[in-house]
Amino acid sequence: MALTDHTLDSVRPLLSLQNINISFGGVQALKNVSFDVLPGEVHCLAGENGSGKSTLIKIITGVYQPAGGASISFDGQSYDHMSPVVAQSKGIQVIWQDLALFPEMTVAENIAFQTVLGRWPRLVNYRHMRELAIQALDRLGVLLDVDAPLKSFPIAQRQIVAIARALVGEAKVVFMDEPTASLTQSETDHLLNIVRTLSGRGVAVVFVSHRLAEVLDISSRLTVLRDGGLVGVYPTAGMTQSRITELMTGKTFDNHVRAADRTTGSKVLKVDGLTRRGEFDSVSFTVREGETLGIIGLLGAGRTELALTLFGMSKPDSGAITLNGHSVQFQSNRAAIDAGIAYLSEDRLSLGLIQPQSIADNLVISSLHKIQKNGVLSDSRKQQLVAGWIAELGVKIGQQGDAISTLSGGNQQRVAIAKWLATDPKLLILDAPTVGVDVGARAGIFDIVAKLADAGLAIILISDEVPEVYFNADRVLHMAQGQIVGTFDPRSCTLQDIEAAVYA
Ligand SMILES: Nc1ncnc2c1ncn2[C@@H]1O[C@H](COP(=O)(O)OP(=O)(O)OP(=O)(O)O)[C@@H](O)[C@H]1O
Ligand SMILES: [Mg+2]
Repeated sequence: MALTDHTLDSVRPLLSLQNINISFGGVQALKNVSFDVLPGEVHCLAGENGSGKSTLIKIITGVYQPAGGASISFDGQSYDHMSPVVAQSKGIQVIWQDLALFPEMTVAENIAFQTVLGRWPRLVNYRHMRELAIQALDRLGVLLDVDAPLKSFPIAQRQIVAIARALVGEAKVVFMDEPTASLTQSETDHLLNIVRTLSGRGVAVVFVSHRLAEVLDISSRLTVLRDGGLVGVYPTAGMTQSRITELMTGKTFDNHVRAADRTTGSKVLKVDGLTRRGEFDSVSFTVREGETLGIIGLLGAGRTELALTLFGMSKPDSGAITLNGHSVQFQSNRAAIDAGIAYLSEDRLSLGLIQPQSIADNLVISSLHKIQKNGVLSDSRKQQLVAGWIAELGVKIGQQGDAISTLSGGNQQRVAIAKWLATDPKLLILDAPTVGVDVGARAGIFDIVAKLADAGLAIILISDEVPEVYFNADRVLHMAQGQIVGTFDPRSCTLQDIEAAVYA
């Protein structure tokens, strides 16, 4: 049920923050922000990369302390700052992006360990933990083998485990920071249902997502941040994606099909009957110079597996790969990189970037040969290379030497893209390149991709989001269950034609 403005006004907030300021070095990440959450509501926090969403969540959950003058009230009590222990014990729970779970432990232990540990007597009773875990999962309407180790489950299930843990912790409000970033459409739908269930049981949810369709679908209210400042708080009813984008960026964007006829350039990649048992079957296609080939499909379609084989990370059982007219059989991804293939992995948090290392080191790691002088790494060349790409992709950073983990999610993604562009590839494979990237930055990234294509780079764009391929690819292959099941030309079909095929 959507609350009307009138009822919203009369409900007392569960959580209320005023005068929130915080700086990192010289950067003021939040400026005089106020924020409130009503009991049981679903409240979205929207803003571009680096606008301060995660920082606000960290202040509420006691990870960071706001500057003096702040006031926080929660459940009738006032605080000038939070601590993680107090926040948790009062019922403020967070599902962090990395989930903070223990893969080696069972589902039951992950869900109930924290709660059981805090109790007296300090005997860990597995049967009791199991019961708590089963109850929590049951409240979410989910069946999972609680005795199985967590590592045997994919990310979507792990996330549910993290939510169940929050429920055992008697959450009154659950913060979810980009929970759907690594989920497929059907997993996302399931998660959104769980959010509705929580809200129906009176647990408020604060939800961060760059997918505005989700934001419109799930929330009753919306707080928009821009550059660390509060733009406003709005009822979601009556909002549109373009209005939210405008509030977030202060600009308007219009999408148009970029597809062009690219049948004349020379073939960069030709794939014939490529098969890897259990992953993909008899896949054939070509990508030409200057062409952007979209590959759309759902989880399990085999897109990433195909990309990993093209990138030399796994070997096909049969079929042939031809690169620039030469048949190739890569023994490793190093060989693929040397041959001019770059692969931006879909999972940048675990594969793409090395979190504790500096921005500069992450950026140059695949192109070290370029910054050598007589066999020795040249700091000045490194600095120049890094500065060039940071400027080119508009990455917001403090110092090149800062750890990559200090950047907001979307800025990390830009560094990951820069890292591959710095290798001067002939074929660039982008696997879900805009996961976690805001609308403005997406437009920026695709402008760059378009420029690279104009300069002759062949690009494969793998995505779950139909608009992403529709507006940015010259041709779109639809992959399902390991096979190419359809080809679309965005110049002669509608977005809905592709959606109808993919979500059929
Ligand atoms: N620990 C830190 N050290 C230095 N700077 C930080 C730190 N944490 C956040 N920042 C800076 O504060 C600003 C806000 O970052 P934050 O992570 O809150 O953005 P966000 O809105 O969550 O972005 P995204 O959508 O990309 O996740 C950014 O400029 C970021 O670089
Ligand atoms: Mg964030």
